[in-house]
Amino acid sequence: MTPTVIEEAAKPLERALCIEGGFALSGEVGIGGSKNASLPIIAATLLAAQGETRLIGVPRISDVEVMCDILRGLGAQVAWNGDVLDISCRQIRSTEVDAELGQKIRASTYLFGALLARLGEAKVPYPGGDRIGARPIDFHLAGLRSMGVYITTESGCLLGKGRPQESSFYLERPSVGATINLMMAATLGHDHHTTTLSNASMEPEILDVARFLSAMGARIYGAGTPTIKVVAVSHLTGATYEVIPDRLEAGTFLMTAAASGGDVTVTGVISEHLTAVVAKLQQMGVVVEVFGDSIRARARGRLRATDVLAEEYPGFPTDLQPCIAALLTTADGESLVTDLVWTDRFQYTDEFLRMGGQVKVTGSSVRIHGVSQLTSAEVTANEIRGGAALVLASLGARGTSTIYGVHHLDRGYAGLIDKLIGLGAHIDELPIPT
Ligand code: EPU
Repeated sequence: MTPTVIEEAAKPLERALCIEGGFALSGEVGIGGSKNASLPIIAATLLAAQGETRLIGVPRISDVEVMCDILRGLGAQVAWNGDVLDISCRQIRSTEVDAELGQKIRASTYLFGALLARLGEAKVPYPGGDRIGARPIDFHLAGLRSMGVYITTESGCLLGKGRPQESSFYLERPSVGATINLMMAATLGHDHHTTTLSNASMEPEILDVARFLSAMGARIYGAGTPTIKVVAVSHLTGATYEVIPDRLEAGTFLMTAAASGGDVTVTGVISEHLTAVVAKLQQMGVVVEVFGDSIRARARGRLRATDVLAEEYPGFPTDLQPCIAALLTTADGESLVTDLVWTDRFQYTDEFLRMGGQVKVTGSSVRIHGVSQLTSAEVTANEIRGGAALVLASLGARGTSTIYGVHHLDRGYAGLIDKLIGLGAHIDELPIPT
């Protein structure tokens, strides 16, 4: 099969991926900037009433484009200059997030905290995003209410009034989104009040957002630990900032080596962000070596079954739970994969069944009996990481699989297909007439 790539400009809205399995991927792949750091960082640019922001390393994925469009709708100037994203939020003319755009991405919730801090009012639609089970935002709202914000709902939108004040807020459980939203909301105030967040999330993306806010002049202490203190400052100024590499993209590419029996090196990563992933792959019999900001993964024989517990950082990431499950479908023995963060994130398992996988979901776990090889099938991605899992499954399967729902992959992975083809994957992109 001759690999073909559809030119970016000519790409139809929807397309299917045809992946011929059985080719060992090898070579080096550069990892782009983190999606889950970039989205809140772009939202946080709203806090800067002065100066311009220049962001380096933001991935050109559809979720980012939606966030940029939302900012433009609020009056911000947002422009790509090559790979650099320039944003000026000096003049914001609206505090109402476009309902249609806001519903498309989960990260639109970040605009609630940012707009309240900057302008004292906000209207944001209840967020959309991936279908991975219930996604409440009660911690965000309780935290903002504890800061004195008056919140109501109207026609599917959240309405907030009042500038966030001093507060001590305990998160019932660590939430990445709530930690970031409340941290942003607490940054501004003329009285230098202090907000304390306890039981905060410790994901690297939290620290990255805090570093960006600090570069804009914010005073944030303890980000990356369970207790974060934010001392309000009178104003923030735009800054130049480079986002961290995407540990989830890196983990996915390390797993392509295991899925295809190959030898893949990811470059430009922060290795310590991948400690849990490296340990788990090694336990499964993959040879993984860390060299500074590069990690090499080499498959050696059949993978060994293992149990996986997806949980908050520094545990094994939920966003790689579907991907590691894909690898375990052909491992030697029985595995149990449990997700403590998104307890229903197992929609992808129906697609594994079509490929001959032996998987059974019980509660928040999937039990996997490894088979010697999956077989190709027509399958559909339902969310970003479930889609990546189907790509991994197809790389190792016998025959050519067709994956639908590719727009989910476009939401989270920049240039995924080109990168896979660069490593030797046999992939065709077929336009689906709309
Ligand atoms: N939770 C609540 N109430 C809240 C907020 C969260 O009960 O108000 C619960 C959730 O139901 C979940 C847990 O707390 O069980 C953790 O959710 P969290 O708030 O941490 O998730 P999030 O901020 O909505 C981000 C990422 C997800 C990633 C999770 C966990 C973004 C845009 N999304 O979501 O990424 O899975 O953190 O690390 O950053 C992805 O990239 O594919 C993705 C889904």
